[in-house]
Amino acid sequence: MFRIHINASEPYDVVIENNSLSHISDYIRPLKEPYRVIIVSDDNVAPLYLKMVKANLTGAGYSVCEYVFPHGEDEKNATRLIDLVEYMADQSLTRKDLLIALGGGVVGDMAGFAAATYLRGIDYVQVPTSLLAAVDSSVGGKTAVNLKAGKNLWGAFKQPILVLCDTTTLDTLPRKEWINGCGEIIKYGFLDVPGLLTQLENKPLLENREKAIDIIARCVQAKADIVEQDERESGVRALLNLGHTFGHGIEKASHFKIPHGNAVAIGMVLMAQGAVHHDNLNPTVVTKLKKLLAAHELPTETSIRADELLEAAKHDKKSQGDTIKIVVPTDYGHSKLKVVTHEELRGYLV
Ligand code: NAD
Ligand code: GLY
Repeated sequence: MFRIHINASEPYDVVIENNSLSHISDYIRPLKEPYRVIIVSDDNVAPLYLKMVKANLTGAGYSVCEYVFPHGEDEKNATRLIDLVEYMADQSLTRKDLLIALGGGVVGDMAGFAAATYLRGIDYVQVPTSLLAAVDSSVGGKTAVNLKAGKNLWGAFKQPILVLCDTTTLDTLPRKEWINGCGEIIKYGFLDVPGLLTQLENKPLLENREKAIDIIARCVQAKADIVEQDERESGVRALLNLGHTFGHGIEKASHFKIPHGNAVAIGMVLMAQGAVHHDNLNPTVVTKLKKLLAAHELPTETSIRADELLEAAKHDKKSQGDTIKIVVPTDYGHSKLKVVTHEELRGYLV
């Protein structure tokens, strides 16, 4: 069991514990009286876990309603968000009530945004059930939906009151989603956690699933260290976007057929290859990165045209006028922020 405290403007804990979902009320009760609760989930996760969560909360005196929507990144959109908040209003949820986001990053990002804005903000709990959500999206309070112009363009910062990760839920996660989560995990290795890369080299996580709880905790601690310094991404938090500048373009150009963690993996390789030419990165770092990604069955290249990736980068939230803030690997396990013009960014796609 791990309990990692996030010292944000509104502090909270990330609890990572096997079998914690079956007694979720034990974690929520100290934070929230038994008012009403809405559980938001998708149609893959709800049949597996919603009944159990609902039964436990109801038994503890909470009155529970639920909103379940079709799974997939396509659903993280404005229409779905409005349908959700309309449902919350129909249910007459008040400011004292609680939202629980039960699912992967799509559920967490969209339900979190609903919580951030419904009645100008109600409390919410993140219950990540995918590896990617456990290591990244459930922590740090970034919530959003996608717009036609790009990923996560409509959103808000809103910290949850608790993140509860029951690692036994990963038992039902399809292999391709484990692979996807490994993209973000390897990203953390490049944010001054080189020991994580060594651990994954020695035994890829896909063959070492019993170590998932330790690795999740390591990533959450790395994210906590960054978020505590810069909650609203005015500085170092942008490091968490390693691989995302081109990654978001890859997701969009593929119409989300290439999922987030896979796109981040390719994005890291593209940026590392560019850094060899523009930042004197040792080419052996690219070789080692590609080998580690391949060992986790992640892609390392794309046939998507450079123009499409560069066009998407113009809509990236890290763009400001003619310039964009990028994250560049400087060594195996280390990265830095750099501001370049969009024309200079073109040069990175060697
Ligand atoms: P996802 O929510 O679509 O989940 C992936 C798939 O796994 C879905 O089909 C889902 O139904 C299924 N699933 C989830 N848990 C399961 C379980 N325990 N058993 C069986 N199936 C399960 O996607 P994701 O990879 O979790 O998250 C990706 C999203 O997260 C993207 O939209 C990305 O932009 C966002 N993200 C946000 C942040 C942030 O800081 N807010 C950080 C990284 C990524
Ligand atoms: N995943 C990027 C962030 O949380 O800042």
